[in-house]
Amino acid sequence: MGKLDGRVVIITGAARGQGEQEARLFAAEGARVLLGDVLDEQGAAVAEEIGKDRARYVRLDVTREEDWSAAVEAAKDAFGAIDGLVNNAGILRFNELTATPLEEFRQVVEVNQVGAFLGIRTVAPEIAAAGGGTIVNTSSYTGLTGMAYVGAYAATKAAVLGLTRVAALELAGRGIRVNALCPGAVDTPMANPGLLDPAGQSDEGREAMAALYRRVVPLGRVGRPEEVARLALFLTGGDSSYITGQPFVIDGGWTAGVSLG
Ligand SMILES: NC(=O)c1ccc[n+]([C@@H]2O[C@H](COP(=O)([O-])OP(=O)(O)OC[C@H]3O[C@@H](n4cnc5c(N)ncnc54)[C@H](O)[C@@H]3O)[C@@H](O)[C@H]2O)c1
Repeated sequence: MGKLDGRVVIITGAARGQGEQEARLFAAEGARVLLGDVLDEQGAAVAEEIGKDRARYVRLDVTREEDWSAAVEAAKDAFGAIDGLVNNAGILRFNELTATPLEEFRQVVEVNQVGAFLGIRTVAPEIAAAGGGTIVNTSSYTGLTGMAYVGAYAATKAAVLGLTRVAALELAGRGIRVNALCPGAVDTPMANPGLLDPAGQSDEGREAMAALYRRVVPLGRVGRPEEVARLALFLTGGDSSYITGQPFVIDGGWTAGVSLG
């Protein structure tokens, strides 16, 4: 028996990284998953690998209301009622606040914050109609603590926690639990663009990254997207049945405090 038998879950940003691992794990645990992304070729390939009976891919730019409506229709056509959502899509831009162009700030807000809002607004009524379910939003450790040069990103990730709490309050009566993931550094193209072109990554570059994480992360390494997927599984499945409105940090201890080791 899988932990998500009979569940139907929409996962955004599922073409790679954490969203891809969430889709694979959820399907392995018995769910049927609708993968959304703007990387169509990659997303379709992941869905195909998982298998047509368990997974479908649709283009879902989370900033577009019409894409959300189409994704809901596609999920219902393929699998019947929807009872889960993972708002995972996100983008990161590095810049000093005083040098950040307005356009760049707005772009990050559009994807990370407006995208999560549209997901909740579009999919929650479907989950309610199915008799209840779960929403997992993807915040970040930067939603809870500061980090230099990611001002726009950190602002949106704090906003996602606000959305999570309010959604949990408003949707509890309709049988929907809403929680948030707050990952630290996770080895995906977002935190490690070298993954997109491993041939172009030098051994020195790889070792410098590893050394950085050994130094700043108490557990001594970067996180793996599969580890984040397991937390998303916990928050989507019945094991978290009495939990709603909460942020869950998964960061190898990075934000635990000052390490003197
Ligand atoms: N990797 C980390 O260190 C880290 C840390 C904390 C939080 N996060 C968050 O985890 C989530 C997943 O990121 P990841 O690490 O897997 O990075 P990633 O860049 O590998 O994956 C992000 C995915 O979102 C998709 N995406 C971007 N804009 C989109 C849009 N408008 N509509 C739909 N999809 C879109 C991308 O195409 C990509 O497939 C993000 O919300 C990110 O902010 C990542």
